[in-house]
Amino acid sequence: MAQAANRWSRHRRAEAIGQVEVQGGWRGARQEACPEARKLQESSEVRDSDANSDAMLQLRSGISMPRFGLGTWQSQRGGECQRAVAEALRVGYRLIDTAQIYGNEADVGQALQDARIKRDEVFIVTKLSSREHGGNHPAAALKASLARLKLEYVDLFLIHSPRGGFLLETWDSLVKLRNSGRELPEVNQIELHCFWQQRETESLCQKLGIALMAYSPLARGSLFGSTDLARLAQESLCSEAALCIRWAFQKGFVVIPKSVNPQRIQGNIKALSGPGLTPRQMQEIDLLDQGFCSCPAARAMQVPWEEVATKAPVRGKGKGKSKSNGKGKASGDLQTTSWAEAFS
Ligand SMILES: NC(=O)c1ccc[n+]([C@@H]2O[C@H](COP(=O)([O-])OP(=O)(O)OC[C@H]3O[C@@H](n4cnc5c(N)ncnc54)[C@H](OP(=O)(O)O)[C@@H]3O)[C@@H](O)[C@H]2O)c1
Repeated sequence: MAQAANRWSRHRRAEAIGQVEVQGGWRGARQEACPEARKLQESSEVRDSDANSDAMLQLRSGISMPRFGLGTWQSQRGGECQRAVAEALRVGYRLIDTAQIYGNEADVGQALQDARIKRDEVFIVTKLSSREHGGNHPAAALKASLARLKLEYVDLFLIHSPRGGFLLETWDSLVKLRNSGRELPEVNQIELHCFWQQRETESLCQKLGIALMAYSPLARGSLFGSTDLARLAQESLCSEAALCIRWAFQKGFVVIPKSVNPQRIQGNIKALSGPGLTPRQMQEIDLLDQGFCSCPAARAMQVPWEEVATKAPVRGKGKGKSKSNGKGKASGDLQTTSWAEAFS
């Protein structure tokens, strides 16, 4: 594994801070990645935002990453996740998003091995657990991830959350792993969907050249059937999930809907084929923004940033693991929420 980590260090680039990271390494594969997204790109029917119809996103380091992939949070280890990843790879997904705390890296690794897809044709994202911040922990944690994934490198290694604290030290460890000079972050993975459009963050990231990866792009289905999106879906003869995916894709984000259901896995990637959304449809969906937070992990961003840059995070006062599903406006009080709760 030492060898594997070294190889990762030599070839990868990355870093990150916040709910983010950075890393790179995506050699070639532009033609193979995400055929449905490529069809959309090539389709003369794409009616909005041609610049954002590219199946691949070029990070400022020059590395390319696919703009559509499979999320795996809550895809259960020991089979469910493996089957979902296998199905996704079969129907053309070429980006898989996992994390150390999801506990399913081994499933992802097994599905990748079974699929016999060339390593440089898939883009694998994993994330450093908040338990592994600081000191030599990131290096050891990466090695363990690579072992579980049965890979010699990952394409993107994100700092999962600021809640682990010691961000600057952790960042420096990642820079050392990459074995190259300090760079600014390239990819920021945040909750982002039409119900929480994060425009301020989007414009900052755009200004800084940081790619935005939209997690919970369906808002976990929480608002399906209860907003104007339902009407728009009916008018467009497609599902609300398809509209969420297309909207985010045409906005230029990397989109990673999670599913363990083969029909949905297939349907979600198909959302990228066929005609794109019209400017009017895009505008109508833009109007759905309501700062709706669907995922408890988003609350982890509400930390005292100056403190967690160099110290362990503020811990909550004796609250147990939250039973809350975290759904609601993005204004929770994290001072009383432990990082473990943030990932409930
Ligand atoms: N960095 C972070 O802290 C962070 C936090 C959250 C998520 N993420 C990443 O982002 C990925 C996606 O986010 P997410 O899993 O929170 O939420 P999501 O992708 O917005 O929604 C997933 C939910 O929607 C359902 N679903 C999938 N396709 C559907 C469709 N076509 N119609 C109706 N329902 C559908 C899934 O159920 P079935 O599985 O039963 O289809 C699941 O319950 C995660 O899996 C993870 O990889 C990262």
